[in-house]
Amino acid sequence: MKIAVWTACLLSSVAAYPSVQEHQSNDYPWRAPKATDRRSPCPMLNTLANHGYLPRNGANISMEILIAGLKTSVNLGADATEVVGAAALKGSTTGNASTFHLTDLDKHGLIEHDGSLSRADIYFGDNHSFNATIWAQTASHFTSPIISLATAAKAHKARLAAAQIENPQFNMSASDVQASMIETALYLSVLSNDTGATAVSAWVQKVFTEEKLPIKEGWKRPEGEISVSTLTALVGKLVAEGM
Ligand code: HEM
Repeated sequence: MKIAVWTACLLSSVAAYPSVQEHQSNDYPWRAPKATDRRSPCPMLNTLANHGYLPRNGANISMEILIAGLKTSVNLGADATEVVGAAALKGSTTGNASTFHLTDLDKHGLIEHDGSLSRADIYFGDNHSFNATIWAQTASHFTSPIISLATAAKAHKARLAAAQIENPQFNMSASDVQASMIETALYLSVLSNDTGATAVSAWVQKVFTEEKLPIKEGWKRPEGEISVSTLTALVGKLVAEGM
């Protein structure tokens, strides 16, 4: 009898405390953006807005909202968010210098740069929207279930080379190149299969093409914090692989 009571208690407590994955999908359900919702050229920020970790309307985002949203969702540390968030605020059109709209991130030269993995260069008119043709070039390198450092480095390098040929006004400063390398390190870190360095191809596809966290596919929030130092170390490894 006692055993039956304990079993019942345990089962009810399991039901009362859902797994991290259930927690993610229950509290932060994915919803497609409405026509009036603002989105950015960053596939991850769009994903997080689609799940409600960032305001679903993509508007009036403060540093506090950004830091909390990225920490809760993908374990990006405040140090890393602050660097890129400060650049985002420089393009603010909200009328309040301490907030920005996701669409403010389209401003070329702040964070947005040529040679993106999934967006066209500003020269072609739309540096904001997911571009299936450009993404197909990048994703053509992702032929294995796992994206290794060497593969990620090759995809990045090939995309920069292609953009340079296609765009007569191609222009990337040293800091643009650095930023684009960090973006590769970011997707590898967030969508990693526990190694913190190699990503699951299907998860990367899902974030870029659907702007949805691959929770159903088995993705979990990284346990270790992603910080400026972990990202810098990963960029170093990517460079060593030929990026
Ligand atoms: C863990 C968090 C993040 C991840 C995984 C991530 C990932 C990425 C990736 C992979 C790209 C490249 C897209 C492409 O080349 O097609 C990108 C672009 C971008 N990200 Fe993020 N990002 C994160 C956080 C942020 C934050 C906090 C900001 C600013 C507030 C930001 C702003 C941008 C912008 C403006 C671009 C466009 C750059 C371009 O391709 O021209 N991202 N991000």
